[in-house]
Amino acid sequence: MSYETLNKVGEKYASLIDSYISDILRGEPEDLYKAAMHLIKAGGKRLRPMITLAASKALGGAPSETKAVYYAAAVEILHNFSLVHDDIMDNDDFRRGIPTVHKIYGVNWAILAGDLMFSYAFLTPYLAIRAGADYKEIAKAVEVIGDGSRKIAEGQGYDIMFEKTWDVDEKDYLKMIYLKTGALIETSSKLGGIASNSDDEITELLGQFGRFVGLAFQIRDDILGIFGDPAKTGKPIYNDLRRGKKTILVLYASKRKSEWKEFFIKLFSGNQSDENIKEAVDIIKESGSLNYAEMLAKNYYNNALDRLDSIEKMGLIKDEESFKSLKELAEFSINRDK
Ligand code: IPE
Ligand code: IPE
Ligand code: MG
Ligand code: MG
Repeated sequence: MSYETLNKVGEKYASLIDSYISDILRGEPEDLYKAAMHLIKAGGKRLRPMITLAASKALGGAPSETKAVYYAAAVEILHNFSLVHDDIMDNDDFRRGIPTVHKIYGVNWAILAGDLMFSYAFLTPYLAIRAGADYKEIAKAVEVIGDGSRKIAEGQGYDIMFEKTWDVDEKDYLKMIYLKTGALIETSSKLGGIASNSDDEITELLGQFGRFVGLAFQIRDDILGIFGDPAKTGKPIYNDLRRGKKTILVLYASKRKSEWKEFFIKLFSGNQSDENIKEAVDIIKESGSLNYAEMLAKNYYNNALDRLDSIEKMGLIKDEESFKSLKELAEFSINRDK
């Protein structure tokens, strides 16, 4: 599949979202707002706001899209908040091809920049009143944003807890990635349903679409963390291995052979020479972990498409192009190299 529609729609949405965010994230002290805008200015795929906008337009046409811009801006701001704090926790130096916020501005400013964006994520939906949204709709939007935000914190909690334990199985991993990543994509998708005044059943189906895309997306992220090209991802490579992250790649191999598990235990407890990292990568390939992770992501992708099919069958699509871009976006999530 090509990403023709996604690219076309995506480009338009990315600049739209960027201009709204630049208007919203303004104020003093100057350093604080600069720190908050640091990553946003560097770009990013803008995948979450694209889902909100495309879903709203697919189901409600242009007037829904106009309201959805504010919800879409809110999720992108919330996402950027989570990235700034995530980079502090993961001790990562690069993102979107540039030094991370705490590297440039220091940890204190990075924490505050995150707090600032977190606040704006909850203020921004109220601006939808300008586009004709009523308070009942806005209340629903704020509720799902709050839900997504709570889940990010819970998921990030499990993520760092798992660094220090081997009492983690595939089910725990899936729960963790749903919470840290899937939930915000689920929120983004549900917001499209809310902006288009879709009924609860449709909004729920959209949410499930986002949830499955999110799971596939994070599995792909874990693959790229080991097999990606930093020039494309804009992020460091092998840091998950250096930090002892219990990704599916590590968990699967460790379950296959006790010798491999012993290797990862040693690797994670400090023996992290380049040679050992290389061996870890070899084990991940040899054990079938990479194949397994790809298969898992593909299954989630199929589930995501299945939800879109259900919506399509109900005859509710008002804008085919936006709907098609959602399908392409799901596929992009499992094949992406950035
Ligand atoms: C990075 O998200 C964090 C994860 C949830 C994997 P993205 O890959 O969407 O990051 P940007 O916004 O495009 O930089
Ligand atoms: C992504 O976590 C989830 C959040 C940022 C909330 P990761 O730590 O796996 O993502 P990257 O690889 O740093 O973007
Ligand atoms: Mg992390
Ligand atoms: Mg990280």
